[in-house]
Amino acid sequence: MTEQSRHRNEVHRSDVMTDMHRHESASRAGKSAAVRKPMAFIDLEQQRLRLGDSIDRAIQRVLEHGNYIMGPEVGQLKENLTQFCGAKHALTCSNGTDALGLILMALGIGPGDAVLCPSFTFAATAEAIVWFGATPVFVDIHPHTFNMDPGSLEAAIRTAAADGLKPVGVMTVDLFGQPADYDRIEPVCSAHRLWLMSDAAQSFGASYKGRNVGTIGIATGTSFYPAKPLGCYGDGGAVFTNDDGLASVVQSLRIHGQGTDKYDNVRIGLNGRMDTLQAAILIEKLRIFPDELERRDRVACRYNSELAGFARIPEPIEGASSVWAQYTIAVPAGRRNGLAQGLKARGIPSAIYYPMPLHRQIAYREYPVAGNGLPVSERLAGEVISLPMHPYLEDPEQERVIEAVKAELG
Ligand SMILES: Cc1ncc(COP(=O)(O)O)c(C=O)c1O
Repeated sequence: MTEQSRHRNEVHRSDVMTDMHRHESASRAGKSAAVRKPMAFIDLEQQRLRLGDSIDRAIQRVLEHGNYIMGPEVGQLKENLTQFCGAKHALTCSNGTDALGLILMALGIGPGDAVLCPSFTFAATAEAIVWFGATPVFVDIHPHTFNMDPGSLEAAIRTAAADGLKPVGVMTVDLFGQPADYDRIEPVCSAHRLWLMSDAAQSFGASYKGRNVGTIGIATGTSFYPAKPLGCYGDGGAVFTNDDGLASVVQSLRIHGQGTDKYDNVRIGLNGRMDTLQAAILIEKLRIFPDELERRDRVACRYNSELAGFARIPEPIEGASSVWAQYTIAVPAGRRNGLAQGLKARGIPSAIYYPMPLHRQIAYREYPVAGNGLPVSERLAGEVISLPMHPYLEDPEQERVIEAVKAELG
């Protein structure tokens, strides 16, 4: 351990000790739950403590070899990621949004093309489609999974055609960590000759009926944004595919459309590489990722079994696993603010993903929606609330969250 990292770890530990001490004194003083230490929504600090100085050493190695762009760690991470998820190709890149953009660029979408995607998602999903002049056509979601509803997908295909657009493909989103219902979406894609790609920014590490995220559809994009289940210390992302042709185009696009070398440009591309430093960090984090996923699952199972009678709990599809990027429940719209405030008063953070579906946002409201509208997306935007979720959420903290939700909703 370096002097610096030892010092930093000691500082962190002493912060934790001080917090623990504060927490104990508060309890001893018989103070109310409202004055307890605030809980983290996603606790990256605990992960840092667990990883000890391994990340510091990984960063130090990069500083020593100095290959900051496409250094050896980028190649190593590619190997580790393909091994982890079983995809034939893993191409790391600058962030999750660029991962989606690289795939769409390689697929060659353009004006007049319609790409069907959910509206109940983060803006990047639709944004990447619009970059290339294509039109996102918004699809509704299933109320229990928060993921694309295959029935609404059929309606969206009809809407696109009625609007004079050519439906070319579907971009599912594996929202909150759970894969979409691919067994029901894939036949719709095949029947209409549409390609299928996944926005798996929130679901890397999950699986669907024996298939790992990264191996479903023609390609998958993920994000390693720090708060994602597998996150780096900045921006990062990856494209996964089993298609050799698509992989080689994405590889070229990510470095300015390069051909045989970087001064041979065979297509218009972008600067979409992942930094070597971020790759070095991800290599270390990937080592503990399977254990972290188990821990997340244990937290989610406990929440599910305790909160079932109090709120609509997330329901994983039979045979699928979630990485629980968010643990999101739904409550009657009139009670959500009260719940959020009640949790806050008890030192428990919560968050709303997403308060407004994309088709209601200024930037996206001109784009078509499936059929006569997206009633489920609109309703859930008023009902969802996400609770603290991370691998290091200890039993007493889980207990606090559960008791607080029950007290507010009971
Ligand atoms: C569903 C979804 N898609 C795409 C992205 C974009 O990822 P990034 O922030 O790495 O560009 C995110 C990130 O929050 C996301 O949640």
